[in-house]
This record gives sequence, C-alpha cells and structure tokens, in this order.
Amino acid sequence: MLRARILSTGSYVPSRRLTNAELEKMVDTSDKWIMERTGIKERRIAAEGENTSDLAYEASKTALDRAGISADSLDLIIVATITGDMPIPATACFLQHRLNAPNAAAFDINAACSGFLFGLSATNAYIKSGMYKRILLVGAEALSRFTDWEDRNTCVLFGDGAGAAILEATDGPSGVMSVDIHSDGTYWELLNLPGGGSKHPPSKEAEANRMYYIKMKGNETFKIAVRTLEKLVLDALQKNNLDASDIALLIPHQANLRIISATASRLGIGMERVMVNLDRCGNTSAASIPIALDEAASTGRIKEDDYILLEAFGGGLTWASAVIRW
Ligand code: ACO
Repeated sequence: MLRARILSTGSYVPSRRLTNAELEKMVDTSDKWIMERTGIKERRIAAEGENTSDLAYEASKTALDRAGISADSLDLIIVATITGDMPIPATACFLQHRLNAPNAAAFDINAACSGFLFGLSATNAYIKSGMYKRILLVGAEALSRFTDWEDRNTCVLFGDGAGAAILEATDGPSGVMSVDIHSDGTYWELLNLPGGGSKHPPSKEAEANRMYYIKMKGNETFKIAVRTLEKLVLDALQKNNLDASDIALLIPHQANLRIISATASRLGIGMERVMVNLDRCGNTSAASIPIALDEAASTGRIKEDDYILLEAFGGGLTWASAVIRW
C-alpha cells in the first residue's frame, strides 16, 4: 500500500524579534497579560521587502538540502497561507520560480491555521492515488503585514515564519497514518480579514474601517477550539488503534498555551511530550505546525518509528489532525 512519508523538513523565521516589552509601548497591554493569557514572550517579524514566498523559499531550501534532492525532482508544490505575496498569482508559483522547479505544478491552500494539515491531506491523497510521487508542502505566513497594530486583542498574538516538508511515496510501514480535516463556515465571523475580496473590494471606505486587517473574536474562538480539539485528538487515536501512551510527541498548532495544555491534559499526555515554541514564535498560523515539526525533528525529539500526533484549529472555522509514524 502506498503511503506518504516525510523525507525531510526545514523552517525559517525572520531575524527581527518583537518582544512583549516593545508591545507594551505600542498598545495598552502588559507582558504579564500576554504571558498569562497566551504564553507568548516574543514573535518574529519579516523585514521590509521580505515576503511570504521568501520565507517559504528559505524553509524549502533547507528541506531540499537535507533530503539531498534537487527542486526539479518535485512533482507538486503546495503552499498553505492566508498572507500570500499577492492575490494572483499563488505564492506557490513564486516559490516554484525561485526554487527552479519546472516539473512541479503549484498552488495555494487557504485553511488559516489548519492550512498545513489541509495541505497534508491533499498531499497524502495525491501520493496514495499514485498521481504524484514527490511533493513539497509548505506553511508560510507574513501575518505582521495584516495585523492591526492598534488592536491589542490581536496584535500581541501573531508572528511570521515558514516551515516545509518534502513528502514521498513509500510502501514501507512509516509515514502518514491518517489525516482528518473539518470545516464549519457557520462561524466565519469569528476570524476573518474582511477587506480586499469581492465582498469588500479595495476602497477608501474599506481602508477607513481597517478592513485589511485580521479580526478575531478571541474568547468565542477559544471556547470552540478547546471543545473541538478534545474530540479531534481522541478520534485520531481511536482511528489508529493507538493509546495516548503510544504518542511520542504531540505537535499542536501554536495559538495559545492554555489551549495546548487543555488538549494535552485531555489526552493524559504530560507537557514533556508536547512541542511548544509559541513563547518564541507566537501564532504563525499555517506555518506553526511545520516550524514546530522541523524544530522537533532537527533537535532529536522525534526518533525512527515514533508516532506523532499533529492538530490544528483556525479560521473558517477549520480543524484537522494527523498521525504520522516517523
Ligand atoms: N492586553 C491586555 N488586555 C487585553 C488584551 C491585551 N493584549 N487583549 C484583550 N484584553 C482584555 C480584553 O479587553 C478583556 O477586557 P475586559 O474584561 O475589560 O473586557 C480581557 O482582556 C479579557 O479578554 P478576552 O478576549 O476574554 O481574553 P481571553 O482570555 O479569551 O484571551 C485570546 C484572548 C488570547 C485571544 C484567547 O481568547 C485566544 O487565544 N483565543 C483563541 C485564538 C485561536 O485559537 N485562534 C484560532 C487560530 S488563529 C488563525 O486561524 C489565524
């Protein structure tokens, strides 16, 4: 049976750190509030002229180098992002161009913070069907460009970065065991960026109403996230006939430490088996899981044959899980 296996990973975060102390000078907030409510200490901000595809390129280059393969061997490039370089073309096309990957088709996926796992679902399906053999999957965001730096409810949360994984067809026992994706558009108003699309096209009014920035009803989103993720991770274990004790590492979307610990505690997994980097990266939306995955893989936190559980929740609303045998 064909399976998608992760051949290598890579990640990149911009060098500029934005600390809670700096945010205290920008909006009415405090390091104490941000730490207690979110767990975030600092986040990275893309430099002027550094775009989402540039972040994606750096992460992808590392993944290609580590795999020891060249970009012209890629069949497909998928970029999960909500902050692409431009509405047209897809950021994946910019990436394809920079990587020099002429044999790859390229497209973007928008599933907000669940984007990488939605991309993994597509990747898995393509590989299982035999349609493509080698796929580059990237989550990349320059959220700072769409953050309202006057809105304390959101500006303390987000950061920029990118993570990449190269997946290949295998008939061995390791690889993606399951991916489950879900959406519920009923709740679209909880998290959105209203301006610039066909509903609110570019206009002076849209600008005056700050419609080009991300809006979030954080507390309502929080409650649904905790409830939904509890069921999601238990379902993922059951589907794979696994027990929480079989999971070597939980790699959650990095939105809020309270959401992460509630999910881990529901599973009965101690925090030593949970990958957390949101204290240093903030919420990087679609980039968060692949950055955390790369950090875990490159620091030896995942070993051959380990089972890892990935989970995400975000705008849409969307949510998703994956179980991978390393
Ligand atoms: N500094 C100080 N006070 C603040 C700040 C701030 N930065 N932001 C909000 N507050 C205040 C509020 O005004 C409110 O004050 P009030 O009680 O006087 O009205 C109080 O703090 C509590 O606000 P809540 O919004 O209820 O705070 P909560 O504990 O819910 O934390 C947070 C907010 C961190 C946003 C949390 O709700 C959260 O993490 N939500 C989920 C986010 C998420 O998972 N999103 C999906 C992924 S993101 C994506 O898809 C792009």
